[in-house]
Amino acid sequence: GGGDEEVEEYLFKVVIIGDSAVGKSNLLSRYARNEFNLHSKATIGVEFQTQSMDIDGKEVKAQIWDTAGQDRFRAVTSAYYRGAFGALVVYDVSRRSTFDSVARWLDELNTHSDTTVAKMLVGNKCDLSSIREVSVEEGTRLAEAEGLFFIETSALDSTNVKTAFEIVIKEIY
Ligand code: GTP
Ligand code: MG
Repeated sequence: GGGDEEVEEYLFKVVIIGDSAVGKSNLLSRYARNEFNLHSKATIGVEFQTQSMDIDGKEVKAQIWDTAGQDRFRAVTSAYYRGAFGALVVYDVSRRSTFDSVARWLDELNTHSDTTVAKMLVGNKCDLSSIREVSVEEGTRLAEAEGLFFIETSALDSTNVKTAFEIVIKEIY
């Protein structure tokens, strides 16, 4: 095909989901712009960023979608998931309730997306070790049971943020 088709060939949509305030928007801003905001506001509707990476000498672009964790701020769910090839399901290791919600997010993801979506369970805020409520082992076990990749991250100190996105994008590719 022509040049335009070749560009389209490697553009992958990735969605980020999880409860409010787990750090979805900061994971995205850390990955795409190396920015972190201690006082970020809750997301309203949907935002996205396009980020390029090099895989085997090819430029692969991910269009990463971020939405509100709060129901009242969320846009139409089916549109959010449509065409997604990858998903990051995020919880906050310092708030157990956000880990308990993962099953509900996975249900929604599975309802609205293809079974072939590459899924990564992400335990964010691993910098908060002194107030941790969910252990690494619990995260690992849930991921194994659900057939997901698993990683702990910190958008604050950058731990594993790039790796989390790139594992999903490489799996898609
Ligand atoms: P919604 O948009 O409401 O769904 O929330 P969100 O998941 O996008 O959370 P957001 O990125 O806005 O972060 C919520 C709060 O957690 C902010 O005060 C961030 O500064 C903080 N935060 C995000 N990531 C981390 C992290 O890795 N470590 C620590 N300590 N704080 C974080
Ligand atoms: Mg947000």
